[in-house]
Amino acid sequence: MSKEKYAGKMERPPKLEQPNIFPLDWKASTKKMEEIWDSSQKEYWDPKKLPWDTFDPNSYSWEEREAIAYWWQLLAVFDASAPPVFAEAVIKCYEVHEEDPVRRCFFSVMRDEQNHEQVCGMFIKALLDHDDPMNYEPKTEIGKKAKKNAEWLWFNGGRYWNGYKTAVPKYSLAVLFSSFLMGEIASSTLFHQMAAGATEPVFKEAFKNIGRDEGRHMAICMALMERDYPKLKVDDRTLITKQIKAGYYFLSGVLFEPPPEFWDLNPDFIDNHREIQDFASKAGFFIPDYETKKQNWKNAMLNLKGVLDKFDIPFPAIPEVGITGMEINDVDMDDIIPVF
Ligand SMILES: [Fe+2]
Ligand SMILES: [Fe+2]
Repeated sequence: MSKEKYAGKMERPPKLEQPNIFPLDWKASTKKMEEIWDSSQKEYWDPKKLPWDTFDPNSYSWEEREAIAYWWQLLAVFDASAPPVFAEAVIKCYEVHEEDPVRRCFFSVMRDEQNHEQVCGMFIKALLDHDDPMNYEPKTEIGKKAKKNAEWLWFNGGRYWNGYKTAVPKYSLAVLFSSFLMGEIASSTLFHQMAAGATEPVFKEAFKNIGRDEGRHMAICMALMERDYPKLKVDDRTLITKQIKAGYYFLSGVLFEPPPEFWDLNPDFIDNHREIQDFASKAGFFIPDYETKKQNWKNAMLNLKGVLDKFDIPFPAIPEVGITGMEINDVDMDDIIPVF
């Protein structure tokens, strides 16, 4: 900041260099965002108020506890990275002087994701009776496999932070969050299915709330696209197509199965991953099977494709789930902006 004094030299202060950190206006032109903000206020929930008194981890064997905790660790790799990811997005909203309801909507996503992170932590803590799963000593063979897999997931998920931080100032919000929609569509479907299949009230309630939050995040993204996509620059269109492909790779980690293009994993990862999830499912912790996840994922992408078609933005080919489109081979993982 310049220490130069201006007040004696001019009647009005000089123009602030942009971007400055905050606007001093409360303009609002996207009515939809205001409505979403209102529902985020109404639907806010407290993880501590889930029906915890109905949940007794001791009613499960240690294998079952470690297998179910694994699934929450998998989710935590995404949901625990979301608060800082969206905190950056909130800062960006202020720097670019986004309208007031958009600032609030991104703030609500950050707050929701912080809740999701809390829930992951609360379940992991209750199930493992330990607050630090990376330094937890597994009690069973399943637990050992789970810990190794979780270590690899965490390592991978943690790698994109520097890339994200450099990408945020470079791109507009509409480009940054283009792959976000796909994740939100698929995750709200996944969580609704998991809520429907859950036998424990505490899991059911948590998934219901998380699924509802993700549905709202999806609506925020749609509103942003509808506002900004009609005036998109040509370069941004290509970038969005790439972002979608990168988002597919990243989010497959939790919504489908982690593909090797982004995920650098131990050779026995997938076998262990399936075995642990089967174990959790058999213990009553419902996880949709491979085919259902694949179908969810495909539907989410077809939905997003429908949106992008409206704005003449090419969709990438995703042969893994049978979607044809533009061939994208040069996805630069340094530029990846994965969000959940
Ligand atoms: Fe989330
Ligand atoms: Fe979300």
